[in-house]
Amino acid sequence: MPSDLQLLCGFQTGHALRPLWHLQADCHFLNHGSFGATPRHVLAAQDGWRLQIERQPVHFMGAQLPQALRCARARLAEFVGTAQQRLAFVENASDGVNAVLRSYPWRSGDEIVLANHAYPAVRATVNFLAQRHGLRVTLARVDFPQHSAQQLVEAYCAAITPGTRLAIVDHVFSPLALVTPLQDIVAHCRGVGVPLLVDGAHGPGMLALALDDLGADWYVGNCHKWLFAPKACAFLYAAPAAATVLHPTVISNFHGAGFPQEFDWQGTRDYSAWLAVEAALDFVQAFGAARYRQHLHDQAQQAAALLCEHWQVRLPAPAERFAAMVSVPWPWPEEATAENAKFWHDRLWNEHQVEVPVLPINGQLWLRISAQIYNELSDYEALARALDVPRERMRP
Ligand SMILES: Cc1ncc(COP(=O)(O)O)c(C=O)c1O
Repeated sequence: MPSDLQLLCGFQTGHALRPLWHLQADCHFLNHGSFGATPRHVLAAQDGWRLQIERQPVHFMGAQLPQALRCARARLAEFVGTAQQRLAFVENASDGVNAVLRSYPWRSGDEIVLANHAYPAVRATVNFLAQRHGLRVTLARVDFPQHSAQQLVEAYCAAITPGTRLAIVDHVFSPLALVTPLQDIVAHCRGVGVPLLVDGAHGPGMLALALDDLGADWYVGNCHKWLFAPKACAFLYAAPAAATVLHPTVISNFHGAGFPQEFDWQGTRDYSAWLAVEAALDFVQAFGAARYRQHLHDQAQQAAALLCEHWQVRLPAPAERFAAMVSVPWPWPEEATAENAKFWHDRLWNEHQVEVPVLPINGQLWLRISAQIYNELSDYEALARALDVPRERMRP
């Protein structure tokens, strides 16, 4: 076993593991959630694939790539609880969501339901299609702060009507960091016959996935966030009946080959990120996938408790509603504008080397902290201290 993976098998976490990443030294990186951070071990495996491609590009693309992709898909499929025939590689969650929504046989007047806190790129895709096909867009009004998961489920039940042709739900809401109780929403959608697309951009690695058991029609997951794959590695799961309508966003040589083969060739591109997913799975599995999820959850809760105690603020939802990320209120009342959010984000980075998203949500500023195995509580203490200074002394 390579030494990086041996280190993961031990009991150490925190800064002792930092050498396994290229992360800048002496910074407090509390934003694994935005783009992940790929370990050296996985990047080396990706380089290995690139070398293989370049040794004989024609032979690789024609003779080796299809089998290599099948193996990578099979390994990933096992990890997320399905079979490789139900899983296609895509570049990222945006690509997967686009593949589903742009393949769907819309009719003018159809209704599509998504949450008021859905990811902006998903909202943009929905609005684009609404204009193009004359769709009605209905928002499920998800509260934030949110005192019970039931509110989220009820928001979807209230938004879905007999005219709804498709619903989209976030597995983990990006700005809120809340985890959705998917089972209840899937059950409702099945009961009323509405196809459901799960935006699981943060799901793989952070949450245990059993996609066949879940029963959603489509699930899109990023592997480059919590699964440590190189950037531009994601998947689209489709239940058998839901696969028949699907095409990749780039139509190419395999058009007509069906799902998932059509997705295996989308023109000449760098396929190494997809192929390196096995190295990413090796990385997570060397640490232990269940141990990894538990560690992230425990660390996120401890970090959130530390910040809440330090700043005397309250979490926007019960702690068990979060997994590896938590949104914590800004320590003092601050105008919730994009400009202010950027000002404080930049200030935290430039003056305190703390990387953490600052987000305006529902008239308030929030900090969305991530937990990762390379973090330790001292990283969150640095954030707590950075915002300790009286406000009037921090502003220019
Ligand atoms: C909920 C959600 N959906 C979609 C996306 C888009 O992901 P990507 O940029 O990988 O396409 C994100 C990104 O963070 C997200 O959090």
